[in-house]
Parts: sequence; C-alpha cells; structure tokens
Amino acid sequence: MERLQKMLAHAGIASRRKSEQLILDGKVRVNGKVVKELGTKVSHSDTIEVEGVQLEKEQKVYYLLYKPRGVISAVSDDKNRKVVTDFFDTVEKRIYPVGRLDYDTSGLLIMTNDGEFANLLTHPKFEIDKTYVARLKGIPKREDLQKLERGIKLEDGMTAPAKVKLLSADSKTGKAIVQITIHEGRNRQVRRMFDAIGFPVQKLSREQFAFLTLKGLNAGESRELSAHEVKLLRVMAETGKRH
Ligand code: URA
Repeated sequence: MERLQKMLAHAGIASRRKSEQLILDGKVRVNGKVVKELGTKVSHSDTIEVEGVQLEKEQKVYYLLYKPRGVISAVSDDKNRKVVTDFFDTVEKRIYPVGRLDYDTSGLLIMTNDGEFANLLTHPKFEIDKTYVARLKGIPKREDLQKLERGIKLEDGMTAPAKVKLLSADSKTGKAIVQITIHEGRNRQVRRMFDAIGFPVQKLSREQFAFLTLKGLNAGESRELSAHEVKLLRVMAETGKRH
C-alpha cells in the first residue's frame, strides 16, 4: 500500500506537491470514487483516474546487481558518491535497492520498483538467509566461531544463531576467510558480529540471498530476475521457508 500522492508522483503525473493539489481539487478518483483525502492508501490493484484518465500501471521490474565496493546502496547521495542506481542508466523505471549493503561491502543486491516485494523481502519476520564471505584479521578458533553459531550479544541485542564455516586460514599473513549465513539484517551486522569475537572484518561480500547467487556476474554487472525467481522469493517470504 502506498499513499495516493506518492503513487501519482511515481507514475509521473506531477510532483508530490502538485499531486496533492490535484487530490484536494477533487480531480482524482480511486475505483470510481472521488478521493479528496491526502494520504489515502492505495495499492497497485486499485484503479486510479486523474481528470478522467486512468493511470498506466508501471510495469514491475526486478534485477540482481553485483554491487562493487565503494558504492552507496541508495538512489542518490548528497556527497555525490556513486550510487547503485548509476548501474541502471538505461532503465527508465524508478528502481531502488531492497535493503542495503555497506559502502565497503560488495555483493548481491536486489533492485526493483515493486515496493510490496521490497517490504516482503526485508521484513525481519520472513527470515531470508543471506550468506556472506568475510576476510578477517586474525584466525578464529572453532570455539570463537561457535559463539556466532549460538548467537552473540551486540549493543542492539542477541543475534539469532548463524551458520559459520572457516573456508581458509593463512598463518603467514594471519588472515582467515570465513563464510557466514544469517537471516537478520541489522545495520553492519556481520562486521559487528566478528568485532564482538575479536576478529575484525577487512573485506566483506554478500555471496547469496536466499537461492540467488552472483554466478555469471562481475562486479558492477546486473541481470533481470526471471518471473520464476521472483515468484519463488515471494513464496519463500510468505511461507517462511528459508532456502
Ligand atoms: N553486514 C555488514 O556488516 N555489512 C553489510 O553490508 C551487510 C551485512
């Protein structure tokens, strides 16, 4: 559900302000009825008319981006840094990222113009698995990683149990590569989890989101999700299935 004036603005009818005026002037109908109340919630299944002309329903699009490091997970940046939508110059729809990856984190990010889908995938109660590969300073022991598997106390509360696997360790450089799967999405969560056991993350990449991987893509490349993949993600979120 979206506010009516936002839906009009998104559909390119007018700015948010002018859209509000159109509503106040009684020029907007929802399912045949004039609506003058600002903030009325509408969904994409509602029929909306502006001055008697029906709104084109924007076709929904879904992409998987391999976000490089050094890019902001947003549609604009006040410091003029590169943002994830810069990789979609030829896409005319207003797409935005589903959740976010830190500026310094690379990896898998879904982009869409479907707000309901984005809400579904980011809502904590749907517990979608996300797998990260981290390069750590120091080599953790089995019992260090077990703390993350059990759940660890961070300043915003205990983390849910994670799946953790040591992929490699180099005693010469004193670095380890660890794979970790979590289904929460708190701010800088993976970095904070490894900080909490004393092994700071030097490099982080999200390799998997549910069943989606980065296979076939280089950093900065994207592909469209298939209708089947979109449907599966929806079903997973709605049924609470994680893989
Ligand atoms: N955890 C982090 O610390 N950073 C991310 O970008 C994603 C998860």
